[in-house]
Amino acid sequence: MSSILLVRGSTRGDDSISSKIAVELAENLKAATGAAIVERDLAQNPLPHIGADFSSAIRLPAEQRSAEQSEAIAISDAVVDELLAADTLILSSGFVNFGISSILKSWIDHAARAGRTFRYTENGPEGLVKGKKAYIVLASGGVYSSGPAASLDFAEPYLRSVLHFIGITDVETIRIEGVAFGPDAAENAVNGALARARDLARAA
Ligand SMILES: Cc1cc2nc3c(=O)[nH]c(=O)nc-3n(C[C@H](O)[C@H](O)[C@H](O)COP(=O)(O)O)c2cc1C
Repeated sequence: MSSILLVRGSTRGDDSISSKIAVELAENLKAATGAAIVERDLAQNPLPHIGADFSSAIRLPAEQRSAEQSEAIAISDAVVDELLAADTLILSSGFVNFGISSILKSWIDHAARAGRTFRYTENGPEGLVKGKKAYIVLASGGVYSSGPAASLDFAEPYLRSVLHFIGITDVETIRIEGVAFGPDAAENAVNGALARARDLARAA
């Protein structure tokens, strides 16, 4: 059975708008394709930040790693295994200071692994996560898809770049923008995103 990995990166728990849309998208995709949903809620179960043990261990063969280094790599391996096992990836986050949440950034730091999700070749880096589709779900108080704040969007271009780097080039984005512009604006943005989630699932 195909599977959808839903990575929830909002820090706002049940109040999260990006989570609401990402869950809806996952459910719509499940209904359309029969895929199973595997959920990783990074707020409930945050990954540790990568540190000295991880950064040194990735350059060592397994048998030369200390217990601490092995532990750091095991966390990353679990993230990578989960990613490689999925056919579809959904990454969701709210904007936090013009970028993604630090809990989602931490997931990326564990997921981008030389030798597992990308490798260096004579022609430069090559992504190893092939044949998958990804959806990015981003909620923001302001509007970044166009207008004066567009150059301050360090979330979507960053996520697309990282996904491309590890080999995922089929990427769709759902934005829920301007949620700080009052209740009507927020409701319109959520309704627009719900409709887009339905359309994307229909096209899957
Ligand atoms: C600490 C913090 C920083 C934020 N930074 C931004 C920002 O830089 N740009 C923006 O448009 N909205 C910003 N917001 C608003 C959130 O992006 C908005 O509330 C969004 O709904 C959060 O996504 P979520 O509901 O999925 O958690 C920020 C909110 C918080 C709590």
